This record gives sequence, structure tokens and C-alpha cells, in this order.
Amino acid sequence: MELEGKTAVITGGASGIGFATARQFAASGVKLVLGDIEKEPLREAVDTLRAEGAQVVGVVSDVSRESDVFALRDKAISEFGTAHIVFNNAGVAAGPAIGTPKKVWDWVMGVNVDGVINGINAFMPVFLAQNEGHVINTGSLAGLGGVPGMGAYCASKFAVVGISECLFHELALSGKNVGVSALCPGFVRTRIHESQRNMPDELVSYNEDPAARAVAEFAATAVNNGIDVTEVAHAVEHAVRTNTFWILTHEHAAVRTTEQRVAWMLGGPAPGINLDRATKP
Ligand SMILES: NC(=O)c1ccc[n+]([C@@H]2O[C@H](COP(=O)([O-])OP(=O)(O)OC[C@H]3O[C@@H](n4cnc5c(N)ncnc54)[C@H](O)[C@@H]3O)[C@@H](O)[C@H]2O)c1
Repeated sequence: MELEGKTAVITGGASGIGFATARQFAASGVKLVLGDIEKEPLREAVDTLRAEGAQVVGVVSDVSRESDVFALRDKAISEFGTAHIVFNNAGVAAGPAIGTPKKVWDWVMGVNVDGVINGINAFMPVFLAQNEGHVINTGSLAGLGGVPGMGAYCASKFAVVGISECLFHELALSGKNVGVSALCPGFVRTRIHESQRNMPDELVSYNEDPAARAVAEFAATAVNNGIDVTEVAHAVEHAVRTNTFWILTHEHAAVRTTEQRVAWMLGGPAPGINLDRATKP
């Protein structure tokens, strides 16, 4: 897709990978609708991009609510005429497979999976009708292999990768000029390890749980050793321009993880977990 003059909608656009990609798109002449659940950071993100010359509006929105994501689409249409790109990027991390309360699982699945489903349902009819569009769904290396301490997160990201693969095949069969990419990064220096800042109030006490604290600590170390967000933003833009499905910013780890799973399926040893590998491109 040629980007100049197009419109992109980015969820979780106030921070991290979403904001960096917004800035990258803006530099290529893309008009932007940013959604985020955090009101003040969203206002700051919009102000910053406007000061840099971008055409951008912000909409406070919770991706787990279908009506909020439909409102993002409606804003893109009322403000810029249509949308051409949706980056289903908002996400949160919490919860080992053992001992995580169901309500915490529901929160993670609600944001990470329902957010992607809502984005597809809101934007796909527009893209198909105009025979032009691109969907980017944010998975993770945690959507390609299991990781201790990340049960809910891995479940959600495996779902995102699965949904994206199905979407790819359905779009290929449709013959339409609509693309899809699955972004599966390893660790990236963002605020993902502080996801609890957006937890519903009734769940906040979970963060005092020793298992939750231990996971938060190891996640902070790994995230802070990760790659810079601009590398991810470049990779996302390249995938949209070239209509590439896999966006593997940590290609070596992604391929190795997959090879090890195949070897395990064929009777080999279970993969060892090397989080250090997931910090490197
Ligand atoms: N940082 C990493 O190491 C890493 C690795 C793999 C995948 N990811 C994924 O990248 C995506 C972006 O995360 P990030 O790393 O930039 O973290 P981040 O915390 O910096 O950004 C996430 C953004 O999503 C917003 N958000 C949270 N809940 C929301 C909701 N319900 N509705 C709307 N917005 C909401 C947050 O306010 C924040 O602005 C996530 O899907 C994450 O799972 C991150």
C-alpha cells in the first residue's frame, strides 16, 4: 500500500509501540486516529504529533468494548472520510497459568483478544467495500511458544496469531485487496510491564500476590533489555507497504521457538526457556 494520504487507526496509540508507529506513519503522510484508555497520555500523544505536523485526532476508548472500537471507525470516517489501516495494538500483560484469578484472565483476554476481534468487526466491512485496507494485529513471541509466568498473556497472543492466520486465508480466498499482518515481537522497551496501571479497580489487589510480583519483576528486567520501539514501528510500516504477513522483529528467536516446538512434537525434548534470546533482534 502507498501510504501518503491514507488514514490509520491505532489502538493503544498513546504509548509504546502504538505511539512510535503513529509517529512513523505520520512522517509518511498518514492521517491518524489514536485510541487509548488513558486520557491524559492520549492528549499528550496527540499534542506531540500535531506539533510535529501530523493530522491526528484522539478518542478515549477501551478496546474490550465493541461500541468504543466502532466509535474509532466512525471517527475516522467523519474526520478523514474513511480508514485504510487498523493497528489492533492495545494490550496488557498479567498472570501465570497457575493461580491467576479468573477475573484477571478475563481482563487480559478482553483487551488482547476481544480488542482484536472488535477491530476486525469494525473495520473489515469498510476495507472490503472499498477494496483497500490493511489490518495489523499485535501478537507476540508469546503467541508462538509457551512461557512460564505468562499463561493468560500467552493464551491471548496465541489467539491473536490464530485469528490473524485465519483472516489471511479468508482474505486470500476473497481475492480482495485487503492485507493482514501479525506482529510478533520479543521484548521491546515500553510500559507493557506496568500494564496493571490500566487494570479495573476491583482487580488491583491482585498485584500484591507474590506470583504477580515475581512476574512483574522478571518482565520489567526483560522489557528494559528489549529493542527500541522505533525498530518495531519501521517493521510495521514496511509490512503494510509490502503486504507482508509475519512481522518478526526478533526473527531469530521466533524461528528458533517454532523449530523447537516442532522438534518437541516429534518426540524431542521440551524447549528450554531463554528469555535473554527474546530481547535480541
Ligand atoms: N513491549 C513488549 O516487550 C511487547 C512484546 C510483544 C508484544 N507486545 C504487545 O505490544 C502491544 C503494545 O504494547 P506496548 O509494549 O507498547 O505497551 P504499553 O503499555 O507501552 O502500551 C500499551 C497501550 O495500550 C493502552 N491500553 C491498555 N489497555 C487498553 C484498553 N483496554 N483499551 C485501549 N487501550 C488500552 C495503554 O494505555 C497503552 O497506551 C501490546 O499488545 C503488547 O502485548 C509488547
